[in-house]
Amino acid sequence: MTNDTKTVLVTGGAGFIGSNFCRYMLQHHPNYRVVVLDALTYAGNLSTLADIQQNPANEARFRFYPGKIQDETVVRGILEAEQVNYIVNFAAESHNDRSLLDPGSFIQTDVYGVFVLLDAARRHHVERMVHISTDEVCGTISSGCFTEESPLLPNTPYSASKAGGELQARAHHIAYGTPVLITRCGNNFGPFQYPEKLLPFFITRLIDNKKVPLYGDGSQVRDWVYVMDHCSGIDFVLHHGVVGEIYNIGCNEEHSNKEIVRLLLETLGKPDTLVRTIPDPRGKAHDHRYSLSTEKIRSLGWRPSHPFREALQQTIRWYVENESWWRPIVSRPDYQDFISRFYGPYLGEDL
Ligand SMILES: NC(=O)c1ccc[n+]([C@@H]2O[C@H](COP(=O)([O-])OP(=O)(O)OC[C@H]3O[C@@H](n4cnc5c(N)ncnc54)[C@H](O)[C@@H]3O)[C@@H](O)[C@H]2O)c1
Repeated sequence: MTNDTKTVLVTGGAGFIGSNFCRYMLQHHPNYRVVVLDALTYAGNLSTLADIQQNPANEARFRFYPGKIQDETVVRGILEAEQVNYIVNFAAESHNDRSLLDPGSFIQTDVYGVFVLLDAARRHHVERMVHISTDEVCGTISSGCFTEESPLLPNTPYSASKAGGELQARAHHIAYGTPVLITRCGNNFGPFQYPEKLLPFFITRLIDNKKVPLYGDGSQVRDWVYVMDHCSGIDFVLHHGVVGEIYNIGCNEEHSNKEIVRLLLETLGKPDTLVRTIPDPRGKAHDHRYSLSTEKIRSLGWRPSHPFREALQQTIRWYVENESWWRPIVSRPDYQDFISRFYGPYLGEDL
């Protein structure tokens, strides 16, 4: 390894975006080592990292630690033992619908956990920390788009906890000079996404000819980002961003949930009758539209590189071809329990 060898601590690396980020970094930075800290909650899965861990080429370049980001002793032990240069924090309770049922766990991880990481980063002189946030911290926007200066107006316990994490990061930079950067991104899609989120939930159910629940009239608009574009944006911010700054990452691909469902039905060759419109369980807390201005990061030279439709079809194909990854998850009692608690009242015997 040469002088530009770096060790990156990826917290939440056994989840959807974090695991894809590990793959991205190992592939694009041959001199980097990747260390994962993950609590393996219901959303974290070692099978998500199996291809990385089983690749002999990664033996000296990848290490997994089980544990919570709130655990100061664990975090500081890893920073010390692994001589970590960078932290990229994906660890979070990340599902809006679950945050309506159990908001307390979101504050533990998404606010207190971020504080522990920031504090440890400062004490161990970590060179840079990127905190991964979301467009949802700004709430809903009927026209135009959110810039990095838009006010924080979260509407769900999840987005409020993410806003709390961001504010910790901002304050630590100002008060202590902690070299932290924040990224905000829209709805990600791609391989290895836990099948409770809209896209993999719908794809896996449609594969089995099960009904899919569309909230309200399905007109909610999201800014869709292929996960590898998100990863390249984070890598770009890690290396080229200015510490203390916020960067929006997006592809300017706004699509309503209705449109997304139509594309899924067409690609999988399934009938409209599999879509069941249900009263919106999020009620007033369901943001109608998210939209991000990405001028700031683009002005520094970053661009996404995956056309939306192609990436969506590739993603659908991935779930069709990788049942061995998602079937064990959807048959777990905790998964079944959440689906029946949340959707049982709406889908009844079609569950
Ligand atoms: N999925 C999206 O569309 C999206 C969009 C924008 C931002 N984000 C943000 O990106 C990050 C990753 O999202 P995701 O979709 O990959 O989430 P995910 O739920 O798939 O993964 C989260 C991972 O964090 C781990 N984790 C949870 N609590 C932990 C704790 N206390 N300590 C250590 N590990 C813990 C879980 O085990 C899991 O592996 C989150 O911070 C989320 O807010 C997600």
